Amino acid sequence: MVYKLLFVCLGNICRSPAAENIMNHLIQEANLEEQIVCDSAGTSSYHIGAAPDRRMKSAALSRGIEFRGRARQFEQFDFKQFDLILAMDEENYQNILALDSQEKYKDKVHLICEFVTRHPERQVLDPYYGGQAEFDKVIDLLLDACEGLLEKICQNYLYS
Ligand code: 4NP
Repeated sequence: MVYKLLFVCLGNICRSPAAENIMNHLIQEANLEEQIVCDSAGTSSYHIGAAPDRRMKSAALSRGIEFRGRARQFEQFDFKQFDLILAMDEENYQNILALDSQEKYKDKVHLICEFVTRHPERQVLDPYYGGQAEFDKVIDLLLDACEGLLEKICQNYLYS
């Protein structure tokens, strides 16, 4: 069985594609491509079909992480399709839960910062109107969160 992760932000052009591609990078390094797959989506329809933000891409590339994928909107079917749905901030988290009125999938939805071990942040805040430094910070934070997440998945799912 393949374990499926979905990363979610607002536009799906900055934070969630960064999380998806960082996680894929870590999964490749750990040779777990057959066991874990990743995707990302936005709660909004603002950027459907758009490529990732070039500021986010360049911040990731400076750490050797390349981007793949185009923006799409979160949809109802994603609740069924994915094992874990990781929201970047509180607003994304609440917007996802609002689409699950019967609370059937609540346990699948988490804030990605639950998995950080080296940062005090509880959310990955929107860098869209910030400078390059904000984008660099997002990558640092997501690297921390994705490393923690991968470790948890390995402990609790893959080898249990
Ligand atoms: P993201 O960033 O949610 O991390 O992809 C944003 C992208 C676009 C907008 C806001 C946040 N926007 O308002 O268009």
